[in-house]
Amino acid sequence: MNSPSNGPAGLVAACAACGSVSRDRQYVWILDRRTCEHCLLSSRKRLGGLDGDPHEMFVESLAEALDLRERSAGLHSKRVATHTLLLAANHYKDPKDLREVYWGSLLHDIGKIGMPDAVLLKPGLLTVEEWEIMRKHPRDGHLILQQLPFLSMAAELVLCHEERFDGSGYPAGLKGEEIPLAARLFAVVDAIDAMTFDRPYHKARPFDTAKAEILRMAGSQFDPEAVDTFLKEERALREMAAMEFPGNSAFVGQLASL
Ligand SMILES: [Fe+2]
Repeated sequence: MNSPSNGPAGLVAACAACGSVSRDRQYVWILDRRTCEHCLLSSRKRLGGLDGDPHEMFVESLAEALDLRERSAGLHSKRVATHTLLLAANHYKDPKDLREVYWGSLLHDIGKIGMPDAVLLKPGLLTVEEWEIMRKHPRDGHLILQQLPFLSMAAELVLCHEERFDGSGYPAGLKGEEIPLAARLFAVVDAIDAMTFDRPYHKARPFDTAKAEILRMAGSQFDPEAVDTFLKEERALREMAAMEFPGNSAFVGQLASL
């Protein structure tokens, strides 16, 4: 969320890749090219070695539906999935493994599907009873995915995505390498995303503030190896965090003339 809406020339521009101009999409300037989130995230997927697959497009749509319910900013699930994929490509080489990391990250919160809005969207602290409900979502998600035999690794990621390196996470309080590597990588990307985009319960923070927090928590909340991989891919994550919805008057004028 660090870039201005306007480009170097002060003009609002369409996505250089697909030509879209939409107030429902986030955009980012990368060098002198304006890119929409759909095109940026698709290019990340290709970098991670995955290309178009009709089944995958369906799963991406399902993830968008989950994001809508949680009132996430833009394509939260696809953002964390494509960037976890990018980190995972430093560790996994088999495209089948990478696809499972992608699908598991996309569907990480699918277990929240039955959670009441009063808990899911609560802006303040949860009560003990509400926490009990919240803590069920990794196991519920795992239950849904484990019925699909080709997604066993993705199901493990879903089960372990709220675990913390020091054992203070949930649902099982796993520690260190007991947590699958894919889930340890996901945790770093999800935290960066949570801090740098608006959520119902907080405003976005600058990327450098979020990065400092990740570094501070290396070895406690986060796996130091996953944090090292995050630093290798910092540029891509910084670009991710710079995406924003257009909101300036020049853009509104441009929309009106379409
Ligand atoms: Fe979660």
